[in-house]
Amino acid sequence: MCGIIGIVGVEPVSGRLIETLRRLEYRGYDSAGVAGVVGGHVERRRAKGKIRELEAALAAQPLDATVGIGHTRWATHGAPSAGNAHPQTAGRVSVAHNGIIENFAALKAELQGRGRVFQSDTDTEVVAHLIDEGLAAGQEPMAALKAALDRLTGAYALAVLVEGHDDLVMGARRGSPLVVGYGEGEMFIGSDALAVGPFTKRIAYLEEGDHVAIDHGEARIFDAAGARVERPIQLVAASAALVEKGNYRHFMEKEIHDQPDACQHTLASYVDPIAGRAEAPGGFDFQAVDRLQILACGTAYYAGLIGKYLIESLAGLPVDVEVASEFRYREAAVSPDTLAVAISQSGETADTLAALRWCKERGLATAAVVNAHESSMAREAGVLWPTNAGPEICVLSTKAFTAQVSVLTALAIAAARQRGRIDEAEERRRVAILLEAPRLLAQALAVEDQVRAVSHLVARARDVLYLGRGAMFPLAMEGALKLKEVSYIHAEGYAAGEMKHGPIALIDEATPVVVVAPSDALFEKTLSNISEVMAREGPVILITDEAGAARAPPEAKLVVAPACDPLIAPLVFAVPLQLLAYQVGVFKGADVDQPRNLAKSVTVE
Ligand code: G6P
Repeated sequence: MCGIIGIVGVEPVSGRLIETLRRLEYRGYDSAGVAGVVGGHVERRRAKGKIRELEAALAAQPLDATVGIGHTRWATHGAPSAGNAHPQTAGRVSVAHNGIIENFAALKAELQGRGRVFQSDTDTEVVAHLIDEGLAAGQEPMAALKAALDRLTGAYALAVLVEGHDDLVMGARRGSPLVVGYGEGEMFIGSDALAVGPFTKRIAYLEEGDHVAIDHGEARIFDAAGARVERPIQLVAASAALVEKGNYRHFMEKEIHDQPDACQHTLASYVDPIAGRAEAPGGFDFQAVDRLQILACGTAYYAGLIGKYLIESLAGLPVDVEVASEFRYREAAVSPDTLAVAISQSGETADTLAALRWCKERGLATAAVVNAHESSMAREAGVLWPTNAGPEICVLSTKAFTAQVSVLTALAIAAARQRGRIDEAEERRRVAILLEAPRLLAQALAVEDQVRAVSHLVARARDVLYLGRGAMFPLAMEGALKLKEVSYIHAEGYAAGEMKHGPIALIDEATPVVVVAPSDALFEKTLSNISEVMAREGPVILITDEAGAARAPPEAKLVVAPACDPLIAPLVFAVPLQLLAYQVGVFKGADVDQPRNLAKSVTVE
């Protein structure tokens, strides 16, 4: 999703704006722009495409400013183009915006009726016009901003420059996050802590409805009612070092390799290795609820589905899992003793956040499994169940996914004990198994060469089928999603037993079938499905363990992952699937970390 930076600096700002936009690239974008105050005037440079295009525009026409704003745009209203790139300007006002102004068409018609002329197809331009109208009517900038905000329906984080107010950047948030950074004689606003992290560690998170004015010395923050408020300044840990690629070629590769650490750091918040006990941080009582409603999008949704298999089988607690964009609009029937659990890497995904709020408004208890601990979901949910995967930069989720599955596995054990389904000895045994996951994740990384040997088979396919049973079924869907995202090859994940009810019609010698099957209680049944595929000349790539490999048909191409208890198989077997997608993406020369059309955090509907 779009990224925003605003700087009231004492030193030239262009280089820092570009540097920040690079750090925000991971959110996904298709154009970028900056604006700065030059000799009392606001000037813009904008470009379609990558940041290097914007850099070229700045090299051709430098922007010698110490105060400025910058933006990476992921197109919603209006095609990606230099003209639709932000900042959008009207009169004396330039605006960078993340989100969607839902009533922009009505506002635009109204403004045009008053003689305002629009230069772009964006929803954002109405914000610039509204503020400029206020200024023209004699309002001070913050009053004009507030009046404009009161007219907007939708979601936004804004950064605003006003010509004639050379040391001022204004900001506002509703629905999309915005932070304020406190420097030495310099102030910043940005989309997240990573945006301002290299400039200052002192950060305040704005609340919903807040708007802010920063100058050289201070931030004046006002709430939705217009009252002056203070937001606590925190020291953030998000150091720039955490977002470097190190020796890896892509963030995706680095983050796949981060998984043993991410899993270990995450489990540290849930598992006491000495007592052999699993507990939700803060000590949630799973006896107090009779159902879980998991809400999530994308990869987090598949983590939720794996959680359903684990929690229902271990703890006997019914779990519903639904994509948040459906749940929020379909008048779901929820019982009062349901715990709503949002799962999200970013904690800002618009549909998941709205679904969480919907549940909260109906009086349900809420929890959020979230990687960005200061995000909206983290702050709004009744309980925060953190994943400690560290910043995930690649648009495709890998380490956040296994961290989410780690949390759900630990919660399944805690819930099973509390609900009397397992005794303490069995809990200790399960916890010991779970604590093997970081080591086995590290061992699973060693399948890299085996995966490389089969990746060419997948890379030349037009369609690929992924099959699994039990918790390997949602994992197969996640594997298929990874492949589509990174390689643009069509892939579907299916329950292996369901294959004969449709997908089998697709199988021929050009359609590889990736089967995820550790040698568990269902292995025999999956072997029959493999035979069905092979009888139709479908090439099979079997991801299994050593015992499974020993029983595999000789024609199957094998990837042998470490043997593990079924409890942690969804973690261990995620790795070969991620590596397969990654290697196919690299083989095809794809933009691995920022695939076309995708955004890291989708803060619009
Ligand atoms: C986008 C990303 C996916 C992610 C999904 C949910 O579609 O590209 O990788 O799984 O959003 O994001 P969240 O931050 O809520 O986990």
